[in-house]
Amino acid sequence: MNILLTGGCGYVGTPLTQSLLAQGHRVTVVDLQWFGNHLQSHPNLTVIREDIRNADRIPMQGVDVVMHLANVANDPCAELNSKLNWEVNALATMLLVERAIAHHVKQFIFASSGSVYGVKEEPEVTEELSLVPISDYNKTKMISERVLLSYGDRIVVNIIRPATVCGYSPRQRLDLSVNMLTIQAAKNKKITVFGGDQTRPNIHLQDMIRVYHHFLDKGLRLPGIFNAGFENISILEIAQRVTRHVPAEIVVTPSNDPRSYRLSSKKLLATGFQPKHTVEDAIVEVIAAFRDGRIQDDESCYNIKTMKRLSIAA
Ligand SMILES: NC(=O)c1ccc[n+]([C@@H]2O[C@H](COP(=O)([O-])OP(=O)(O)OC[C@H]3O[C@@H](n4cnc5c(N)ncnc54)[C@H](O)[C@@H]3O)[C@@H](O)[C@H]2O)c1
Repeated sequence: MNILLTGGCGYVGTPLTQSLLAQGHRVTVVDLQWFGNHLQSHPNLTVIREDIRNADRIPMQGVDVVMHLANVANDPCAELNSKLNWEVNALATMLLVERAIAHHVKQFIFASSGSVYGVKEEPEVTEELSLVPISDYNKTKMISERVLLSYGDRIVVNIIRPATVCGYSPRQRLDLSVNMLTIQAAKNKKITVFGGDQTRPNIHLQDMIRVYHHFLDKGLRLPGIFNAGFENISILEIAQRVTRHVPAEIVVTPSNDPRSYRLSSKKLLATGFQPKHTVEDAIVEVIAAFRDGRIQDDESCYNIKTMKRLSIAA
């Protein structure tokens, strides 16, 4: 298939591009490369350094599927420049889907976020529950979802609400909970946990990639919204799991981040998807990648540090 992948140089996008190419797809990546480009050249790969806000510069001719991952990808970065966040995360999504429809693209897969639910007490947070987004990042994801669904009569839309992703990528992020706590232990033998009680869902990077492949294979028959997260555990529990692999002191400090929810992915599981990897697998591989030098723990691993350096402020 011909796939247009926005955000293909990102933490998820880089290994996703590699696996799409390995399965024989032709991939066009559109990415501003804020965090570099770790993709190796490949005969079926075209990488375009472009802003998705310039939708008219995105080649859509002959594209079968758009996979849309390029976004300002966490709360602090969204707060750094609110206008940019709304333009990239909401407005550009609309421009992109309109361009896709104009070029008869059949399917649009969108990386939303499990954090759109906000704080939820329910033991099972299913897709039917109300959205109470508590940050600008969450709000733009929610708006994008609604905009995309409004085009559902003209293009098949698959909206994925991923949990926090964990594990090793050639474009590493260390600002995600499992990866962050693991690197703290590996580097400093000390883990600082803010709050600790908040429950968050997780998904291994390789399962995240498998979810996108699942929707590439079956998505035309699966329009709609799907949660994708499998291990709902507290931040403290993550830290304890880390210390099974690297001895480290755990220090708990107060937190002002109330986000706490348990994602249910029963709807996704009912479509035949089964996760194969665990949080513990991610911990082990991040430690190994740090020890053998594949992870450098530099500024590029932290989205907010890089965005500040690039002066992407309001
Ligand atoms: N990583 C997670 O835990 C997680 C969880 C839930 C949802 N998501 C979503 O999945 C997607 C991928 O996440 P990630 O962790 O790979 O993020 P990332 O920050 O590593 O990658 C995002 C990529 O998008 C690019 N980009 C941003 N704005 C752009 C623009 N205007 N034009 C072109 N390119 C642009 C960046 O250069 C970057 O390479 C994002 O939409 C994110 O919100 C991620």
